[in-house]
Amino acid sequence: MTTIRPSMYFVQTWGCQMNERDSEIIAGMLDEMGMKQAVAPEEADLMVLNTCCVREKAEQKVYARIGELVKNKKANPDIFIVVCGCMVQQKGVPEHIARRFPEVNLILGTHNLYRLPELLKTAGNKGVLIEVLEDRPESFPDTLPVQTNKLKAKVNISFGCNNFCSYCIVPYVRGREVSRKPEAIIGEITHLAENGCKEVLLLGQNVNSYGNDNENYPDFSDLLLQVAAVEGIRRIRFMTSHPKGFSDKLIDTIAGCEKVCNHVHLPVQAGSTGVLKAMNRGYTRDQYLSLVERIKKNIPGVSLTSDIIVGFPGEKEEDFQNTLDLIRQVRFDSAYTFMYSPRRGTRAASLEDPVSPEVKRERLDRLMEVQNEISLELNREYVGRTVEVLLENRSERKDGRIVYSGRTCTNKIVSVENGENKDLMGQFVQVQITEAKTWSLKGRLV
Ligand code: SAH
Ligand code: SF4
Ligand code: F3S
Repeated sequence: MTTIRPSMYFVQTWGCQMNERDSEIIAGMLDEMGMKQAVAPEEADLMVLNTCCVREKAEQKVYARIGELVKNKKANPDIFIVVCGCMVQQKGVPEHIARRFPEVNLILGTHNLYRLPELLKTAGNKGVLIEVLEDRPESFPDTLPVQTNKLKAKVNISFGCNNFCSYCIVPYVRGREVSRKPEAIIGEITHLAENGCKEVLLLGQNVNSYGNDNENYPDFSDLLLQVAAVEGIRRIRFMTSHPKGFSDKLIDTIAGCEKVCNHVHLPVQAGSTGVLKAMNRGYTRDQYLSLVERIKKNIPGVSLTSDIIVGFPGEKEEDFQNTLDLIRQVRFDSAYTFMYSPRRGTRAASLEDPVSPEVKRERLDRLMEVQNEISLELNREYVGRTVEVLLENRSERKDGRIVYSGRTCTNKIVSVENGENKDLMGQFVQVQITEAKTWSLKGRLV
């Protein structure tokens, strides 16, 4: 049996920040093994596909990509292929991939990702090695090597989800909710700050429920305060907050703690109470609207963003009108909009769905049109104002001009035109906004 020892790796990632963070761990572990990260996939002899299955489209892209790699492998048999991430946590999927693509070397689940280095050494070219667990084991290490952006880092605070929204596959592929030890979280953030990190994004499928599974842990509000006490950290973001269980204490903590950014990503999913109930979201339209009112009243200047699904089984035109009406009332700064995609094994997958794909498509277009208008209007309110921006990108234009870009505390992307001759990367600067677009702002250093 030939065991391949790859030297250059490339990680391709689909899905949400959880997966992005896992890919940073994968890269960290591979770096520690002495491998180098390839700039382009063609240069890599180890390809890691970190997959998502939240919608069908995501899965189709992964299958197409595996197909391409397998084709390349016929010309270059030394390519080592690993498929990991949420998709392979679904029952029967690893076996299906192995049958369809016997050229894949290793299929690794999310709950034992940390075993990648060891498995790379043993997985050979003979047969597909499948290593997938159903739940997160106690033995999952508290800390793993992570390759991070020095300035801004993602930090897991919890894993999994207990909510079982009826459309969603995440609880099935990421397991039950487990809060990470507060000492591990604060230890990691302290280490990051000592190495120059200024902004952290705390990650969980439902950050508000942090600590609910362990009475010795702080609740999410208190965790935010502990993070804020870490010297060097200037900004704290978090994602995702569930509208259910978003407490007044949390609102006060965001409002009262300067380091906690005035941005709340608060997925509403639908604007009709009937659909919300069928989605098992745990709140009504009115409860959501009243939460938004409290957040806006107590956190001046807050920006609100959301996720919205159209075409949930049985969604009527009237339900959809309720969603349009809700986004006009709330005025989200931006929203991710999705067409419902049935997921095998979820409760909604067995619901009757008389609405045609054409009608759903048309609703999605109308929704995006209304939201884009609102986003532009809200961005226009920034013109003339001076805001603090953390500069995180630097690029040189064709004419030689240097353009920096970064984000405001409210998570707006701002590009800054007059940064020539200065090294401003990683700095907090004051920027006067001169122009607003739907998804970004432009401004000048002051
Ligand atoms: N835990 C987060 C989001 C996880 S998935 C939360 O609860 O908000 C990200 C988004 O994908 C969801 O907010 C939802 O809008 C969308 N989504 C999840 N399952 C979906 C499905 N089956 N079809 C379409 N969109 C889906
Ligand atoms: Fe999915 Fe709902 Fe959990 Fe979010 S809260 S991950 S939408 S089940
Ligand atoms: Fe995220 Fe997709 Fe998994 S959205 S948790 S990567 S299924």
